[in-house]
Amino acid sequence: MVKMKRKNINNIKIISTGHYTPPGTLSNFDLEKIVDTSDEWIYSRTGIKSRHIVYDEKTSDLAYHAARNAIGKANYDMSKIDIILVATCTGDYNSPSVACKVQALLGLDRQDIACFDVNAACSGFIYALCIASQMLNSNRYFSALVIGAETLSLYTDYQDRSTCVLFGDGAGAVILENTEEHKAADFYLSAKGEMDLSIVINDKIWMDGRKIYQFAVKAIEQSINIIMHNNELIESDILAIIPHQANLRIIEKAAQVLNIDINKFYINIEKYGNTSAASIPIAFDEFMSTLYNPNGKKVIFVAFGAGLTWGAAMLTL
Ligand code: UT7
Repeated sequence: MVKMKRKNINNIKIISTGHYTPPGTLSNFDLEKIVDTSDEWIYSRTGIKSRHIVYDEKTSDLAYHAARNAIGKANYDMSKIDIILVATCTGDYNSPSVACKVQALLGLDRQDIACFDVNAACSGFIYALCIASQMLNSNRYFSALVIGAETLSLYTDYQDRSTCVLFGDGAGAVILENTEEHKAADFYLSAKGEMDLSIVINDKIWMDGRKIYQFAVKAIEQSINIIMHNNELIESDILAIIPHQANLRIIEKAAQVLNIDINKFYINIEKYGNTSAASIPIAFDEFMSTLYNPNGKKVIFVAFGAGLTWGAAMLTL
């Protein structure tokens, strides 16, 4: 039984979005040459055809390029940014944070900018958005650059066919501002810490795929039901659902269980694989580029990942 939390609606304006993926790619056919797998197996079980991987770039480089993309699209005055928040579980170092590196790469030398990373694995971008949103609504901060960035290929065991076909690298960014306008944003964050870990990123990624698959479908179902219930939304109120892109079959199964049209879900896993905390902001940026006048429409983000963590966000465009 899930305890419903009190409603806590923020007003947040999405100013711009951007993304960046490294130029190197690894297709299913490339993987066929490395491990005992096939394009047919990978595509039919996951929906993935290819993924981007770094050669010499770090997570902070991907994050920086995604940020520049978002800033450039809106011709945004960077000097307004007073929070840089990066969701990642594959930072350049344990410390300093990727966010501090992005601040330096952007040349933002104002010293009253809050810069830090958040690690909630693949759910990290939703956690980061929630934190940024609460900080903005405290009225102490005005503008936030929220990024999801990962270099999972650096932790991928290319001898393990059950995981190496899944992951890719990339980054997505969103610029948010505090606003007087009615732009409701709401969040549902959840976690169930495990003693017996079912997904771990240490030197390499290890995962119990079947267990995560079953957890993922339930996590998506629960998160979407809760965020819709808390905000009194019905399917027709939602322009799109941007899910964490881990496996096409997981998204299709969740859509079926929820009885929501699969066409409401924005899916781009074919090109990128699972980019963990970067998958939602990359997909969101692509989705935004398909829209003409989305003003006032609502989108839902939903994610799940190691921890276990899961959750959803509702934003007003
Ligand atoms: O961000 C969250 C992170 N993780 C996830 O979301 C992953 C969730 N889980 C999944 O997406 C799926 O469980 C996988 C895609 C990882 C695996 O798909 P599955 O349908 O659950 O396959 P399975 O693990 O049950 O394996 C079925 C068979 C096995 O062979 P046997 O034992 O039946 O002979 C595997 O050895 O497929 C074999 N197999 C492969 N065969 C060819 C596993 N990986 C591969 C591969 N190529 N890459």
